Amino acid sequence: MSTVTSAPGAPAPVPYPSRFVSPAVATLNKNNGLAAYQNELHRQSMADPVKFWAKEADDIAWETKCDKVLEMDSQKYQEPGYAWFPNGKLNTCYNAVDRHVIAGNGKRTAIIYDSPVTGVKSRISYEELLHKVSTFAAVLQSHGVQKGDTVIVYMPMVPEAVVGMLACARLGAIHSVVFGGFAPKELAKRIEDCKPKVILGATCGVEPKKIFKYMPMIEAAVEICKHKPRALIILQRPQCVANLSTSRGEHDWAAEVAAAEKDGAKAGCTIMNSRDPLYLLYTSGSTGTPKGVIRDNGGHAVAINWTMKNIVGLKPGDVFFSASDVGWVVGHSFIVYGPLISGCTTIVYEGKPVGSPDAGAFWRVVEEYGVKSLFTAPTAIRAVKREDPNGDLIKKYNISTLKNLFLVGERSDPDTVAQYHKLLNIPIRDNWWQTETGWPMTAAAQMSSPDLASKTKLGSAGPPVPGYDIRVLVPKSGVVREDLENEQQEYIEAKAGELGTLAVKLPLPPGTFPTLWNNHKGYLKSYFKKFPGYYDTADAGLIDEDGYVSIMSRTDDIINTAGHRLSTGGMEQIVSAHKSVAECAVIGAADQLKGELPLGFIVLKHGVSTTPKQIEAELKAAIRSQIGAIACFDKTFVVHRLPKTRSGKVLRRTLRAIANGTKYEVPATIEDESVLKELEALFAPRAKL
Ligand code: COA
Ligand code: AMP
Repeated sequence: MSTVTSAPGAPAPVPYPSRFVSPAVATLNKNNGLAAYQNELHRQSMADPVKFWAKEADDIAWETKCDKVLEMDSQKYQEPGYAWFPNGKLNTCYNAVDRHVIAGNGKRTAIIYDSPVTGVKSRISYEELLHKVSTFAAVLQSHGVQKGDTVIVYMPMVPEAVVGMLACARLGAIHSVVFGGFAPKELAKRIEDCKPKVILGATCGVEPKKIFKYMPMIEAAVEICKHKPRALIILQRPQCVANLSTSRGEHDWAAEVAAAEKDGAKAGCTIMNSRDPLYLLYTSGSTGTPKGVIRDNGGHAVAINWTMKNIVGLKPGDVFFSASDVGWVVGHSFIVYGPLISGCTTIVYEGKPVGSPDAGAFWRVVEEYGVKSLFTAPTAIRAVKREDPNGDLIKKYNISTLKNLFLVGERSDPDTVAQYHKLLNIPIRDNWWQTETGWPMTAAAQMSSPDLASKTKLGSAGPPVPGYDIRVLVPKSGVVREDLENEQQEYIEAKAGELGTLAVKLPLPPGTFPTLWNNHKGYLKSYFKKFPGYYDTADAGLIDEDGYVSIMSRTDDIINTAGHRLSTGGMEQIVSAHKSVAECAVIGAADQLKGELPLGFIVLKHGVSTTPKQIEAELKAAIRSQIGAIACFDKTFVVHRLPKTRSGKVLRRTLRAIANGTKYEVPATIEDESVLKELEALFAPRAKL
């Protein structure tokens, strides 16, 4: 790579059209509970986003300085018509690895690998990481991978997964990590959609009580796809050595690396345009077809680096433990790119919060490596709480380095937050975001203001983060009409405390998704059509008098099971394909441990003699084999009929309210109200569940 210049000077601000400036900012600023620092940053980011983000861009190494920060031009850019850092050039891998070595920090630990399930612990310095990544990038090149190609990564939590991602970023290839718990059919959907030149895999994942073999999954997925990748580079794990077949294009990871090392092959960084895709990450959409969320290079590097400093509150050299998986956006932002771009030490943890070996696992990691911030899902903390209700295992460890616990991925229940605040004696910081945004939209609260700890409101995911102009939209009629199409309803901004759909006024800040993979039409339709001028988050919630945002539920059919985002629409497709099922609905019912669990309701075809128990078992098996065990689809009710509108639309929201025992209004256009009594009877008493 030619020399990368240091960051650009602050570019001249471009005028910011007033239609994008938020009148709500003034209101927000009057809020008493919203602490001054966070409030002030948010105000600055709204009032002059160009100035705000230009300053932050100085922390990133650019090959070519960008003279524009934000360009709004609906002629030049496809809808919604704006671009961040449009003419900057950089390489994200350079920012995450090379520049730290060049700055003399090569000996600093980049990755700590801690695998209680295999008993392995190791450290990789930035210098070693540079060697591994540039060598592996050369391996990818030898298989024809170049800028713009896609590469699927289907691997467990091992450092090689991170090396593979960074090697792609180095070459300008677009990686698409698929969570290892997904079944072949889900993997196949992603292969068919993004047509990877190469798949990076491993022979197995190691779960606390079992070895989860990956090769049969990968081979079955490739088998059913029309698209055949040119090569599969497979990490042989000692727990499960597979016979790799070169005729199937399978290559041994270690042998490939050894051969490249022997030749001294190393790949440099490809200069990328700021808006070129860095990665593609599939996430559940409203149908069974996953959406390929794109992340760009420039905006993402700036935003994630800002987040590490201002939300996570870490400095170069600090140790960050994000107990997630590289298969999710949290893994991308907070195991890989965030910590490495900002020069921290990241932990690749191959284990669970409980059972590897016990509920003290997180605290053991904190003590052993001097972790300063821990990021995890509320479900993980609830699992720990269940096994160690009084926090006795916490006392076994010295966790004095730990300054914050961040919770993300689902609603944090107030009891758990309050209990862990007490047990750990540190702030518990809820933060709300999505695969689409790539970094937090709200956070309780930002680190730069320590006094904010006391301002955390239980049940709220905190005030908006700078860059996000969050609003709550409600139907003008005052009622959400499940029986009406979206287009038939008019929306207005809600009053403080009123529940509605959370939407973000455009433009979205840097690093948020500029499009969906090969589906810009779907991008506009799914996210920008319902509320013109806003991004529809598909989350329902409210903003209180103090500007704090609370997230209540999804407005679509996405559910969150143990921190995993899943589509009940996708499950319905599988359930309805069962030979005995005439029609079905799958909804998410509240669960104390996993947040939500899918519940099936089926109407049987006439003359079916199979028992409900048998059908339930068959449906469970079908979902496990077609989506994966992580879907936790265990319970199916056989019903005589489903609640529907007169036009035949299934009233899933009403069904969900009945299953959860929450209040609901009988939809005006319901076909036959008496069905509701039949369904309520299934859940009375609710303990039956
Ligand atoms: N590969 C293969 N299988 C996996 C898997 C993976 N990466 N992750 C989970 N599974 C399997 C489990 O083994 C289990 O299979 P089983 O039903 O045959 O036993 C099934 O999927 C369900 O797993 P899970 O929902 O995780 O339940 P659990 O009881 O094993 O663990 C928790 C419960 C709460 C401890 C666990 O879900 C957890 O750690 N959640 C946090 C998730 C998280 O961090 N998400 C990231 C968002 S930030
Ligand atoms: P994912 O794209 O997998 O990260 O899932 C995003 C979804 O998870 C959001 O749309 C929310 O429904 C949910 N979510 C994420 N963070 C939170 C949070 N802090 N509180 C409530 N729900 C959350």
